[in-house]
Amino acid sequence: MAITINNLYFHYTPNEPVLTDINLEINTSTAIIGQNGAGKTTLAKLLNGLLKPVKGDIELDNLNTRNHSTAKLAHKIGYAFQNPDQQLFHNKVLDEAMFGPLNIGLDKKTAKANALTALEKLGLQEYSNENPYDLSLAERKLLTIASIIAMDTDIILLDEPTIAQDHQGIEKIKELILDLQKNKLVLVISHDMDLIVSTLPKTLVLTEGEVLIHDDTIKVFSQPEILTSAKVLPPAITQLAKALDWSETILTKEEFINTYRNR
Ligand SMILES: Nc1ncnc2c1ncn2[C@@H]1O[C@H](COP(=O)(O)OP(=O)(O)O)[C@@H](O)[C@H]1O
Ligand SMILES: [Mg+2]
Repeated sequence: MAITINNLYFHYTPNEPVLTDINLEINTSTAIIGQNGAGKTTLAKLLNGLLKPVKGDIELDNLNTRNHSTAKLAHKIGYAFQNPDQQLFHNKVLDEAMFGPLNIGLDKKTAKANALTALEKLGLQEYSNENPYDLSLAERKLLTIASIIAMDTDIILLDEPTIAQDHQGIEKIKELILDLQKNKLVLVISHDMDLIVSTLPKTLVLTEGEVLIHDDTIKVFSQPEILTSAKVLPPAITQLAKALDWSETILTKEEFINTYRNR
């Protein structure tokens, strides 16, 4: 599974570039970070074919997004929207979760089984017969994710999955991201640095429509000047270790404790 991006340029309005010249090969699960307006969601919509490149090409394995409809690309990539209200449109939770699988041609029985499994993974099974609009924002956000993983695509793209989540919701999403990576390429747009360092091996930083760096997460987070120029703060535990003048880059609580014990 791989995403290849060559000379990608995109604008909504001529002469107002949003992505300028993106070249990327993504074959390992990756976090996408960058300040508001950097172009993360635009890139996500280009990846799943909702938007088409103005110049350049995006290939998902060997499918060029220019040559295929969003419906066709949905067999390959599932995109959970940043804003659930732009994604959800059924009046029953189960129907919402079954829509994706049915839409890519799975039979009704398989679609229902996939949907129920996905709802269970996100802790939403008891809401199967509810109207999505009776759920909280946090639950609707989890429903967008369930609806996408129910399609079981090779590539999964989650746009700000931890929005509105409490600690329990975040832990559920962490577990899910780790689990999905076992056999899928997972891309996660997020401002949640703790989530990123504990789940995603690679990180891509977008600034003003360009790739600032795409490298191992640990390498990206050990270069504070890169994060500063992307207006991103490292995790609190990383900042604490830095404030203590430790030479090691600490990304998680566990690393902090181990390093402290060994000093
Ligand atoms: N539908 C749209 N029409 C015009 N401009 C847009 C649209 N969506 C986003 N933009 C602009 O494109 C830029 C990148 O936005 P976006 O991709 O949403 O960034 P991010 O997800 O990183 O916050 C911003 O300047 C934003 O205002
Ligand atoms: Mg966005």
